[in-house]
Amino acid sequence: MHERTSPSNTIGIDAIAVATPRAYLDLVDLAAARGVPSDKYTKGLGAIRMAIADRDEDPVTLATDAAARMFARGRIDTARIGYAAVGTETAIDHSKPVASYVHGLLGLPQSCRVFDAKHACFGGTAALMGALEWIASGAARGRTALVVCTDIARYELGSPGEPTQGAGAVAMLVSERPRLLELEVGRTGTFARDVHDFWRPLDRRDALVDGHFSVSCYLDAVAGAFGEWRDEDARRGGDPLVRTAYHVPYVKMAKKADRHRAMVSEGLDEAAAEARFAREVAPSLAFAAEVGNVYTGSLYMALAALLHAEAGVLEGSRVGLFSYGSGCGAEFFAGRVAAGAGAFARSLALDEPLRDRVRLGFDAYEAIRRADGDAPPRVSADASADVASDRSTFLGIDTAERRVYLRASPASTRLAVAAA
Ligand SMILES: CC(C)(COP(=O)(O)OP(=O)(O)OC[C@H]1O[C@@H](n2cnc3c(N)ncnc32)[C@H](O)[C@@H]1OP(=O)(O)O)[C@@H](O)C(=O)NCCC(=O)NCCS
Repeated sequence: MHERTSPSNTIGIDAIAVATPRAYLDLVDLAAARGVPSDKYTKGLGAIRMAIADRDEDPVTLATDAAARMFARGRIDTARIGYAAVGTETAIDHSKPVASYVHGLLGLPQSCRVFDAKHACFGGTAALMGALEWIASGAARGRTALVVCTDIARYELGSPGEPTQGAGAVAMLVSERPRLLELEVGRTGTFARDVHDFWRPLDRRDALVDGHFSVSCYLDAVAGAFGEWRDEDARRGGDPLVRTAYHVPYVKMAKKADRHRAMVSEGLDEAAAEARFAREVAPSLAFAAEVGNVYTGSLYMALAALLHAEAGVLEGSRVGLFSYGSGCGAEFFAGRVAAGAGAFARSLALDEPLRDRVRLGFDAYEAIRRADGDAPPRVSADASADVASDRSTFLGIDTAERRVYLRASPASTRLAVAAA
């Protein structure tokens, strides 16, 4: 990376990392407890495990852990970050953004634009597009942008949405001359429509969803956003996409999306659509099957899985990305995998957080979910302890109703304490 102050055409994702809660529920255990054939979840939805956030894990700890991992693995100079945006739909406060906590816990520069972006699962993409355009305009003056997507997907116990829960975060550094994926700024296709397919009123922690309607809204958005992108691409000229990563609320949805695009928008037959999915989309779905829905981060979890599996063979090739947020808004865009991305992606060890997780029994899972509505523990503002953990921790609420966090320093066991 080099200093630049003029608008640049080579901008994109320089580094990426994911974080997940330490525990998961196996979908076979959920199916047994709910009296549902396990094939419905594993084959019908494509889900194997879903990450479950405990009470000391929240959107701030997940976002901080993903970004800290990326900084360490990607050898990032955090002093150059001038934009720190968080996409989330798991609000912890009506006013104070998750991004402020993340900015503080990570010790980012004070000269920094810090904010949250909310639009259901689309918020991370809104933050990413802002970062790209900030750099492309020259306003960044050579600085880099941190974009973190972080969410906990919760549906009512026993509801059809329950097997599509999950939790996690994806951090990305956006820069000029990116080491992973050069994105095509200003060449996107967008789609929006005012619908009630998924929403979460202010007094609820669980989402409300009109499940089958949400699937049809997603498919309409694929056709709309992809159609606009394709027309613009044909006008400007571009080589074919060899892979596409989709927003993945559950694995089967990505298959439905690609099939819809193939058969409705591109006129492929059933067999060609099936073959294309296996070749061009399936490699991006391994992490989603292990983690479940991570809302804003789900497209970027798919991108991380794709780069983990295939960055080396894809160097120089063009990939598509589709982001969808209920409500609804969507964007289709593309990028080119950078030279050297294979070796760099290997050094990022993107699958590391998915290893060494704890398998929850069904009763333990239900106990965590039933405690969701309980008030957090009370702690003193200067709460501090030596916790042998490399993860951030939400400690509780202090007497002035401020959230208190601990973050493990990657370099030592010393813990930074942040109270808002
Ligand atoms: C997606 C959702 C609507 C599915 O709920 P549901 O009505 O209980 O599930 P369905 O009856 O449609 O079954 C799901 C799939 O499993 C299949 N299935 C059902 N039983 C099965 C079995 N025993 N073996 C194999 N597959 C089975 C169904 O055929 C269906 O596949 P299809 O979609 O390819 O037709 C629900 O999980 C939900 O609301 N999720 C949250 C919202 C969401 O993620 N929306 C996505 C767009 S944002």
